Amino acid sequence: MQSLIWLVVLRALEVHARPYSEASALKGRGIFIPVTSSVVPSVSVSTSTNGAASAQILPTPSAVRPDTIGVVFTSLKTDGLPTVQPLICTSIATPISRLLVTGPVMPIFNKVQADTASSNIFQPIATDSPPSQIGSRPDHPVARLGIKPQTSPLGTNKFYANFFLGSQSSSSWTHPYSLAWSKGGGTSKSWGMSVAHINDNQKVFGPNATANPPQYFINPIGIQSLVLSALELGNSTQLSTDSLTAFSANVNLIPSSGASPAITFPLVQGMGFVTAIYNGGTPVLQSGILFRSVTKSTTSIKPGITKFTIVLEDGKKWLLYAQGSGLDLTVVNNGLVQATSTFKGTVQIAKDPGEAEGLYDAACGAYPTTTELSGNVDGAKGSYTFSFTKGGLQNTTLLMFALPHHVASFSPATQSSVTKVQLTTTTKGKTTAVIADSWILDENLPIGIGFAPWNPATVKDTAFSGSTAGAIRDVAKVEVAQNMSEQSNLNSMYYSGKALAKFAGIIYTLNDLTGDTGLAQAGLKNLKVAFDVFTTNKQQYPLVHETAWGGVVSTASYVTGDSGVDFGNTYYNDHHFHYGYFIYAAAIIGHLDNTWLTANKAWVNTLVRDIANPTTQDPHFPVYRNFDWYHGHSFAHGLYETADGRDEESSSEDTMSAYALKMWGQVTGDANMEARGNLQLAITARSLQSYFLYESNNTIQPANFIGNKVSGILFENKIDHTTYFGANPEYIQGIHMLPLLPPSALTRTANFVKEEWDVYFSNGRAEKVTGGWKGVLYANLALTDPKGSWNFFSQGNFDGSWLDGGASRTWYMAMAAGLGGL
Ligand SMILES: *[C@@H]1O[C@H](CO)[C@@H](O)[C@H](O)[C@H]1NC(C)=O
Ligand SMILES: *[C@@H]1O[C@H](CO)[C@@H](O)[C@H](O)[C@H]1NC(C)=O
Ligand SMILES: *[C@@H]1O[C@H](CO)[C@@H](O)[C@H](O)[C@H]1NC(C)=O
Ligand SMILES: *[C@@H]1O[C@H](CO)[C@@H](O)[C@H](O)[C@H]1NC(C)=O
Ligand SMILES: *[C@@H]1O[C@H](CO)[C@@H](O)[C@H](O)[C@H]1NC(C)=O
Repeated sequence: MQSLIWLVVLRALEVHARPYSEASALKGRGIFIPVTSSVVPSVSVSTSTNGAASAQILPTPSAVRPDTIGVVFTSLKTDGLPTVQPLICTSIATPISRLLVTGPVMPIFNKVQADTASSNIFQPIATDSPPSQIGSRPDHPVARLGIKPQTSPLGTNKFYANFFLGSQSSSSWTHPYSLAWSKGGGTSKSWGMSVAHINDNQKVFGPNATANPPQYFINPIGIQSLVLSALELGNSTQLSTDSLTAFSANVNLIPSSGASPAITFPLVQGMGFVTAIYNGGTPVLQSGILFRSVTKSTTSIKPGITKFTIVLEDGKKWLLYAQGSGLDLTVVNNGLVQATSTFKGTVQIAKDPGEAEGLYDAACGAYPTTTELSGNVDGAKGSYTFSFTKGGLQNTTLLMFALPHHVASFSPATQSSVTKVQLTTTTKGKTTAVIADSWILDENLPIGIGFAPWNPATVKDTAFSGSTAGAIRDVAKVEVAQNMSEQSNLNSMYYSGKALAKFAGIIYTLNDLTGDTGLAQAGLKNLKVAFDVFTTNKQQYPLVHETAWGGVVSTASYVTGDSGVDFGNTYYNDHHFHYGYFIYAAAIIGHLDNTWLTANKAWVNTLVRDIANPTTQDPHFPVYRNFDWYHGHSFAHGLYETADGRDEESSSEDTMSAYALKMWGQVTGDANMEARGNLQLAITARSLQSYFLYESNNTIQPANFIGNKVSGILFENKIDHTTYFGANPEYIQGIHMLPLLPPSALTRTANFVKEEWDVYFSNGRAEKVTGGWKGVLYANLALTDPKGSWNFFSQGNFDGSWLDGGASRTWYMAMAAGLGGL
């Protein structure tokens, strides 16, 4: 083993790391050094055994990132010593002392971001039409029921989708409230908007309520606590929507076709009141629970505001605030309360859990109309802001409800606006009332995650020992020779993407981790041929840009008439999973081949824009089809009405999609995309650990449910510890594991993985699992027991049937070796 001394002349910083064992393992990697003060724009690098290998860091003003400096090992000499190329630097401010580095420096990474992100990272990826090989058509099988024409493409997976799908009467959850168009149904038989809030003691656990853990819990639906309606509404009433954004929508109840709305409901995720804007009709208030009392307040809260206290027969107290032309209510019967005259203005309702009346009194009169998202990054610090635009009283600060993962990451300033008032949600723990017109949320960004195996807990030398590299190489040689075209040219975007991603991982491992560049290049050639089928749109079901909703979908449902084919890709189901695999594979190809990158950037960016367009400035795609910045994770559910709301099953494929965005942003030099990917990953980790992946100390989900360790399928209204394809433990737990990639260690902590393993897979149970799931379980084991994982994958009698179509033994071995420092 050679011991090299890398001497990087800086000031005010000294880093020591361990010697490395194999120079070849360093190729393509480098050092990435966060510094707190600025850095001299000149770095010389030398080694004690190789003589001086010095290099200048270019002080290019456009390539400045203020808190990092990096060098990357670019090529290997025959003597096994890497040459170095400095990548970035920043301007001179304070003097910096010597940086002494004993190679290799950790964390090892692949490539340093050379460009700087904008002050708001939500900048367009592109604004032009998708590439011409992706055809265009104006129609889509799902009608856009009641959606008023709007300039921006339509979000297909958002919380309000039930308002334009199917019967238009399934619920939408803004949290903590849910709303549903009563549509002449339910106990009230109303034609207005039904509002509900469910308490924890109303949650139903089953099918065996006393089991610990129970399989599922569900919140009752169809409870019409209060229905906001108008005398004008009846069996000719229609529901329309407008102003649909990533966070909000207006829902209108129209007495009859062509009439103007009697009531408009501006819906915004987290809104503190349900607000109804009356347009001069006669307000009607109904209840399926029935009214116990409706009392007008005799004291004035604010000028122009009338307040009523409503107690329902379930004992729950609601407050109603009316602002406008004066509202008086008369009780017609215990299910019906009616205004004594027509009314123009807003009616707001909120549920008082006991101590919230003062807060509601102060916050009434103002309501959010939408949420603007912005964000910035500074090295490993990321921050995003929700700015709520406001209707009603402009001098009143908004009351908005925050989910647990929001409160946990609020900036100090926003933290000071948090109140003690809480209302529970259906599946996300308790919301907390916050009095503020904007929130700032801070995250630590996982900037150290690259293509290489990554472990946040240990600073281990990820350079493989010679024997480890050799064992991986032996397996990779065989796997890289598989027929890539055959495995990837399928009738499914999902399975095709998984296959391409698998081969990309093998080729990356050969090139970057074992140093077998020749083998890697040969494989890369085949992978590009296989990938070309898609970039030329010659796969079995080509993609098409449909302009009815605005997005790129598989033509499979158009051709077959089957809405569920390819997991519903045509219906916007699972796009972030399907396209995430392609984007990840493309990032690796682009990392290895700059010419390919340039030629195919627009095609890959089209997939990125379809799932994660960051701004309304892109006229061809909705903003963030899948990732929900309020929930902190994605929703997979596309254009199908659903009684329990949007859902997502595979939290790990969600993670993969954010990681793919980060890596594609990195290799294409789109610093804003990379930053958004990092931010999305950090938020996803926080949100998943709150709602999907349960360490034993999770206090957010019901205590008796934590023993399941994972959610199973998380809906807006229920969590069901199962899958869409079967109930074997390895399916239910495993669909939250795959694909195993570097960010798996971010979302799935070593402690969590150990706890889950002990519940489901220890004592020989994993050994009994058959097929590809067995490989998934043992790859996941690497997150807590890398040696055990390595032993499984490196065993002499390894059976290829233990790998699913998206997995390679090569990458699984690399991950185990990388995580374990083997
Ligand atoms: C329900 O779960 C409890 C606790 O595990 C168990 O004792 C009981 O037998 C179960 N009931 C049924 C019907 O399975
Ligand atoms: C609609 O309501 C009107 C007025 O209440 C009633 O006369 C009519 O029969 C209803 N029509 C239907 C189809 O129910
Ligand atoms: C807030 O605005 C309302 C309506 O513009 C006005 O009537 C009220 O006096 C203002 N209140 C304060 C405290 O400025
Ligand atoms: C790979 O599979 C494709 C499709 O089945 C086939 O046309 C091609 O000949 C195969 N290539 C090799 C090298 O076997
Ligand atoms: C739960 O326990 C783990 C492991 O000890 C710890 O890292 C984590 O911070 C804890 N989470 C909470 C919410 O306390």
